[in-house]
Amino acid sequence: MEVEQKKESWNSRFGVILAVAGSAVGLGNFLRFPSQAAEFGGGAFMLAYFISFLILGLPACWVEWTLGRHGGSKGFNSCPAIFSVLLKSPRAKYLGMFGIAMPVIIYMYYVNIEAWCLGYSLHFLKGTLNFATAAEAGAFWQKFVGIGADGAGFSLSIDHIGLFLLISFVLNFSLISRGVSKGIELFCTYAMPTLLLLAVIILVRVLTLGVPNPEMPERSVSNGLGFMWNPSKFVIQEQQADGQWLTISHSDIVGKEFIEAKKAELEGNPTLRLVEQGILSQLKRPSLWLRAAGQIFFSLSVGYGTILTYASYLKSNDDIVLSGLSAAAANEFCEVGLGGLMTLPAAVAFMGVSGVAGMGTFGLGFNALPMVFSNMAYGHVFGALFFFLLFLAAITSSLSLLQPGIAFMEEAFFINRRQSVAILGFITGIGALFVCYFSGDLKALDTMDFWAGTFMIYVFSMMEIICFGWFFGVEKGIEEAQKGSSIRLPKIFGFIIKYISPTFLLSIFSCWLLTDVLGVVGEHGYSSYVRELFIEPNKVAVFSVVMMLLVMGFIFITINGSYLFQRIGKEEQKHR
Ligand code: ALA
Repeated sequence: MEVEQKKESWNSRFGVILAVAGSAVGLGNFLRFPSQAAEFGGGAFMLAYFISFLILGLPACWVEWTLGRHGGSKGFNSCPAIFSVLLKSPRAKYLGMFGIAMPVIIYMYYVNIEAWCLGYSLHFLKGTLNFATAAEAGAFWQKFVGIGADGAGFSLSIDHIGLFLLISFVLNFSLISRGVSKGIELFCTYAMPTLLLLAVIILVRVLTLGVPNPEMPERSVSNGLGFMWNPSKFVIQEQQADGQWLTISHSDIVGKEFIEAKKAELEGNPTLRLVEQGILSQLKRPSLWLRAAGQIFFSLSVGYGTILTYASYLKSNDDIVLSGLSAAAANEFCEVGLGGLMTLPAAVAFMGVSGVAGMGTFGLGFNALPMVFSNMAYGHVFGALFFFLLFLAAITSSLSLLQPGIAFMEEAFFINRRQSVAILGFITGIGALFVCYFSGDLKALDTMDFWAGTFMIYVFSMMEIICFGWFFGVEKGIEEAQKGSSIRLPKIFGFIIKYISPTFLLSIFSCWLLTDVLGVVGEHGYSSYVRELFIEPNKVAVFSVVMMLLVMGFIFITINGSYLFQRIGKEEQKHR
């Protein structure tokens, strides 16, 4: 089944690369990535990360670009329609439903974090943020977002998130209402170079920080870089009463002279020891691979329908192999080359490795970094620029989270962009306010991030790769990808996408389910996310899941009720 004409398309090849790179470059690059590297001690994580990029991330990007352009050439832009056409089955639309639900749900919390960044940027500019310690910065953040109690940040005063949420939300929808080329593409054409410029300015500032406090020479930028990149790491272990050695500290043990000094310090103490954990022993941990692969998907914006939708606006002979590679490379440059070199080293220079380890994404971004900027010369300017950079990165990503929903409404209800913007604005508005209101311990945000932003992304990426490799067909897929392409796909791509990626994903996923989610293997028991839904229900966690189910229910009913969706797939099936 073909639809007569495609309504929208990108203006230029450069524009689409910038838009896809804009979708990929976001909070994940500057906050989530460095905090994960910190949590897993640097070098080993980086190795798992690069391997995941090569065998999962880049191939999955090419898959989404290919499937999206193919669906677009048949006249469809929404994930359920594209899947029905690809798999020539009316039931495939139910699989494609996830490519609408995920971005919509992720948007509901993502726009909240975007609003924090805008708020922080303005507060730095005003000079109101000046923290001597990370704890002081943490107290401001708690009040600003309302971590202490539900509804505490729900206000339009400048000291709370509500006002900034409103501004961010309106900005997103006014941009998306202008359309693919006049809205998304045009905005990314200005936002991406600005973002790069700001990132380079901050990077130069960070790399020239040296040793901010001469009395603590171990707190330095070079130790921050060492912590991030060294393959092996050093930990301090303490002997327990039963003779076992337990890791008690990651301490500031990066850099040769500090390692030697620490060794000498512990020499006289028989219950403490310094242990080197080699890269191989770290790589044995399934959770490290899981996080590395998860970060790759989240960061590249694959596995949740966004690239698929963007690629559907390409013309059928537009290059996708080189464009896909360029956008993925741009994301990696921003993630590893900029985000990885600035955020963690800056935090280590002021707080040391031990201060940074275990802070988590938000701890690093909204406790450590505001304190770091407060303590450097012209910190309010650099702080304002840094959080504005985050805000820009977040908008170019959140626009891509909205477009799948817009395309879906337009196709399902035969409505124009203005009407689809109004419906999606209403749905995501309720969701964003829900996340903003249930701010206590960030429970709503955290629950949605786990189930939609981690769990569903995994499942959908796996399905997408399996569908491409085994149902659409690798040979047909490669032929389709290379149509109009400026370069050829590497020969090994077919083998990787058919065998390696699914095996790798399935193994990681099974290990994850068994250890982290269901807790059947290992000592941890059920993960907290399962526990708070089924074992000891937490009201907000349950509400958050209900909210996600409502979104999926709406999409399900729409798909079943829409005349177009009833026809697609059935007609394709006839031509099988
Ligand atoms: N890919 C986007 C990010 O990294 C969502 O934030």
